[in-house]
Amino acid sequence: MTFKKNILCIGAGYVGGPTMAIIAYKCPQYKVTVVDINSERIDQWNSDNLPIYEPGLDETVKAAKGRNLFFSTDIKGGIKDSDIIFVSVNTPTKIFGAGSGMAADLQYWEKTARQIRKHAESHKIIVEKSTLPVKTALAMERILTSTDSEIHFDVLSNPEFLAEGTAIKDLENPDRVLIGSRETESALKARDELIEIYANWVPRDRIITSNIWSSELSKLVANAFLAQRISSINSITALCEKTDADILEVARAVGMDSRVGSKFLNASVGFGGSCFKKDILNLVYLCRHYGLKEVSDYWEGVVRINDYQKERFILNMMSAMFNTLAGKKICLFGFAYKANTGDTRESPAIFISKRLTEEKAELVISDPKALHNAMTDLDGVDGKISYTEDPYEASANCDAIAVMTEWEIYANLDFEKIYRSMIKPAFIFDGRNILDHERLFEIGFNVFPTGKPALTHF
Ligand code: NAD
Ligand code: UGA
Repeated sequence: MTFKKNILCIGAGYVGGPTMAIIAYKCPQYKVTVVDINSERIDQWNSDNLPIYEPGLDETVKAAKGRNLFFSTDIKGGIKDSDIIFVSVNTPTKIFGAGSGMAADLQYWEKTARQIRKHAESHKIIVEKSTLPVKTALAMERILTSTDSEIHFDVLSNPEFLAEGTAIKDLENPDRVLIGSRETESALKARDELIEIYANWVPRDRIITSNIWSSELSKLVANAFLAQRISSINSITALCEKTDADILEVARAVGMDSRVGSKFLNASVGFGGSCFKKDILNLVYLCRHYGLKEVSDYWEGVVRINDYQKERFILNMMSAMFNTLAGKKICLFGFAYKANTGDTRESPAIFISKRLTEEKAELVISDPKALHNAMTDLDGVDGKISYTEDPYEASANCDAIAVMTEWEIYANLDFEKIYRSMIKPAFIFDGRNILDHERLFEIGFNVFPTGKPALTHF
C-alpha cells in the first residue's frame, strides 16, 4: 500500500499516542509512526494493554494499528522516512540550575531537534506539539540549520488542547485547531499541508492560523486562564466556609452570566495534572525574563492559591478531627488528578497523602485506575500506607474518608454500609463536592464539603 505522506511523531506519551491514533484513524491515506526512546512504552502500545487509560482510546488504536498506525523505537529510520514530524516529547519544569522550579526543561526537546538534524535526508515539516515557551521555534530552526546541509526544514507550532479523560472526544471534536507559522512561501505551504490533514475531520472554520509566536504563547495562556478560573472559585470557597455561603450556589449565579460562562467553576481540593502548574510557572518565568514583574506576580498568584487550597484541606481535616490526626486511619477516595484517567502527575492527592503521613495518620488509598501510579508516587514516603481498589474494603475501620477524585463510582456507593464499617465519629471530607451531603449527614457522618457549610453532629 502506498501512502500519501509519512507522518512521524516523536514521543509516545499522553499526547503523542492519542493524537496520532486519531490522525491515523481519520486519515487512512497517511502512514503514521509513533516513536519513543522508552521501549517499554512502545511495547505496551504494541500490546492490547495500552500504557495509558483513556475512554475510547483502545477502540481507536485497534482500528488503525497495523493498518496505517505503527509504534516503534526506530527513531533514526522514522526520521529518515518521514515527511512531517510531530514532536510531542515531555517539557517538564526544570529542577536544576537557572530557572529551577519554574522554567521549562527543554533538554528532551533539544535532543529531538539534534536527532532530526542528524538523521534527516530530505525536506521535513516539523510540528511543535509539545507545550513550549514562546520563541522555542526559533531555537529549533537554529539547531536544524546549524550544519552545512542543504536540507530545508519548516517549523510549525500546533499546540494540543486535549484534556485527559476526554482526549478522544476532544481530538475528534476540537473547539479549535491552532496552527502558527512563519510568513514565508515555504512555511505557508507547510501550514497548508497540516491544515489538509486536520480538514479530514475538523470543520474548516475551526482550524485557525496565526503567527508562530502567538501560537506558542496562546497555549500557555489558555492553560493559565483555565487554571485561573479554578483558583478564582477555590479562593472563594475559603470565604464561603467562613460565611455560610454555598460555593455551588455562588458558582451557579456567577456562571449564568454568559460573559463568565458556567464551565470550569467546580470548586475542588486543587487542580492537578502535568500541565497547569508547569505552564503557568513557565509563563511566570518568561514574564520575569522580560522584566514584567507585575504580570509574573499576577499569574504566580494562581499557583499560590492552589497550594493554599491543598494546605487548607489538611488544616480543615485537623481542626474537624479534634486537632490531631496522629494514629487515625484515613481513606482517600481517588488518587488520579481527575476522573477517567489513571494519571496522577501533580495530583492534589500526592500532597494530601504526604501531609497526612507527616501528621502521623495511617492511609488507605483507593482508586479504580491509578493505584499503580499512586504506589510509585508514594514510594519511600515515611508512614503507614496501603492500597485497595474496592472502596468498601478501603474505608472499613477508617476514621475518615477524603474524596480526592470525582470518579462517578464514589457518588453511588452504599454509604449506610460504609458508615457501619467505620470508626465513630465518622468523617467525610468532600474535596470534589460530588456526594449527597445532606443524606450523608442523616446517615450519621460529620460532613465537610468544599466551600459549603459543614454538617456536624457536635
Ligand atoms: P509524556 O511524558 O506522557 O510523553 C512524552 C514522551 O516523550 C515520553 O514517552 C518520553 O519517553 C518521550 N521522549 C522524551 N525524549 C525523547 C526523545 N529524545 N526521543 C523520543 N522520545 C522521547 O508527556 P505528555 O503528557 O504526552 O506531554 C507531552 C507534551 O505535550 C508536553 O509538552 C505537555 O505539556 C504537552 N501537553 C500535554 C497534555 C496532556 O494532557 N498530557 C495536553 C496538552 C499538551
Ligand atoms: C488541561 C486543559 O484542560 C487542556 O486544554 C490542556 O490541553 C491540558 O491541560 C494540557 O495542556 O495538559 P487536563 O489537565 O488534562 O487538561 O484536565 P482538566 O480537565 O483541565 O483538569 C485539570 C485539573 O483541574 C484537574 O485536577 C481537575 O480536577 C481540576 N479542575 C478542573 C477543577 O478543580 N475544577 C474545574 O472546574 C475543572
